[in-house]
Amino acid sequence: MTSKCVISLDLPEDIVAPLRDQFDLQTWSGKEAMPEVTLQDWLADAEGLLCALSTSITASVIAGAAQLKVISTISVGVDHIDLAAATAAGIPVGHTPGVLVDSTADLAVGLMIAATRRIAEADRWMRTGQWSQGWQSDLLLGMDLSQATVGIVGLGPVGEATAKRLRGFGCGILGWNRTPKIIEGVEMVDLDDLFARCDIVSLHTALTPDTVQIASRSRLASMRAGATLINTGRGALVDEAALIEALSSGRLRAGLDVFETEPLPVDHPFLSLDNAVLLPHVGSATLSTRMAMVTRALDNLRAGMSGEPLPFCANPEVSGLRG
Ligand code: GLV
Repeated sequence: MTSKCVISLDLPEDIVAPLRDQFDLQTWSGKEAMPEVTLQDWLADAEGLLCALSTSITASVIAGAAQLKVISTISVGVDHIDLAAATAAGIPVGHTPGVLVDSTADLAVGLMIAATRRIAEADRWMRTGQWSQGWQSDLLLGMDLSQATVGIVGLGPVGEATAKRLRGFGCGILGWNRTPKIIEGVEMVDLDDLFARCDIVSLHTALTPDTVQIASRSRLASMRAGATLINTGRGALVDEAALIEALSSGRLRAGLDVFETEPLPVDHPFLSLDNAVLLPHVGSATLSTRMAMVTRALDNLRAGMSGEPLPFCANPEVSGLRG
């Protein structure tokens, strides 16, 4: 009998087709996230799960999936999966590190420039017919990246790639990492110092219990007036209520690709703030990066379904593989 594999998101048919020959697939085709009760029902007799950030894989989902041999997510982050529960159940979790580093670092720098040079705001302004005079000496003034001090919170691969790009702009670069690191052109500092001394703070840590709201109310309050917060990591790294207050008062600017609630509700306060550049979680959204992520995720899925070690495993301590 062919093993059953659940795909909890709507993927293009050319990606799914090769899996049909190998597995009995049950695929969620809704545009909204798959409801947990449906996921639990489908996983009751499944050996594989291919998912992405939109599906929360909770401890109770894992507890009910007695046959599950592998969870493979099309993402580097695994904060949507209860990793401890998967590990305790002996289920390896595959993810996609490495391949989205450059795309995400490019987007972080793009957001820095967009927020500090007010690119999205200027585009909106033009489209609403407000450009009635020609060149104006004080129109939409911003800040030079070359004159800024930029702080990078988390110097994993994406943070390091962001620092590498910033060296080319000639700005000052401060860095903080849980385990200190030596990186060319980066002055390592204490986290509170970094928030207080920078014109731009960019978040690149993984979301873990230790990093929830690492951009806390008090750290946001310590940022320089006119400074910019960039987030391409996870929404929950930021105290969003405090950030909204700082943006509403005009004290800070922001460039955000991620939010605590995704999709962002249509009436969310961020949407009415002109000094925030907002993107719909597209850090890795280039064709070649998404193809590389899918390839990695399918390799992980196939390996787990065959009881082999996953090429990219987020919980390598799982030893006694199921099945
Ligand atoms: C994107 O946010 C990812 O974790 O891949």
